[in-house]
Amino acid sequence: MKLLIDDANTAAIRRLYDYYPIAGVTTNPSILAKSGRQPYDVLEEIRSIIGSDADLHVQTVAGDTEGILRDAHAILRRLGDNTLVKIPCVPEGFRAMKKLHEEGVRLTGTAVYTPMQAYMAAMCGAEYVAPYVNRIDNMGFDGVAVVKQIQDIFDNNALECGILAASFKNSQQLLELCAYGIASATVSPDVIDGLFSNPAIPAAVDAFTKDFEKLTGAGKTMDL
Ligand code: E4P
Repeated sequence: MKLLIDDANTAAIRRLYDYYPIAGVTTNPSILAKSGRQPYDVLEEIRSIIGSDADLHVQTVAGDTEGILRDAHAILRRLGDNTLVKIPCVPEGFRAMKKLHEEGVRLTGTAVYTPMQAYMAAMCGAEYVAPYVNRIDNMGFDGVAVVKQIQDIFDNNALECGILAASFKNSQQLLELCAYGIASATVSPDVIDGLFSNPAIPAAVDAFTKDFEKLTGAGKTMDL
């Protein structure tokens, strides 16, 4: 499973890229608003941090097909032709996806709450679909189960579309989808940090260090 950062905080993106094998960044209009910066200022900085080959998913905002097409072309012009254009899986969005797919644009179907939205986006040529795991959970359904069902639909219908699982609030949701072999997940910095926040982990590492220092002296490492 590829791990992406679901955030536009460039300090957090730099830090996480430094420590972990991160495959890209996703944003949506709410994430951009949270950054408090002009959209293309922050997006161009993100593109320069992650490099021109990394996956950058950027969402359209317009509500009608023609507007979505204009948003998509602007995103590609400003951020590179390999940018994945995220389009909401609504009727106007599907119509735009079909046209953009004919142009060879890389597409991510987003705002996915139901398996049939995902199926339709895949049929329209989307490279990824983004089901919202935690938001589905919050509606009283099972977000992880919905993602697994989408994967089964793709497999059973030989659809060449990957899942970009999104909207996570805890590591258990991520773990279950990783174990199922979901192609990719986009996760906020606090959930990524939480993956390794178990107190048993630093306690074990500290005990190794203390035992070694008893043998060699304080501050000594294998670089003797
Ligand atoms: C993906 O890109 C989605 O827009 C995002 O994961 C939604 O997450 P949220 O439910 O935390 O807002």
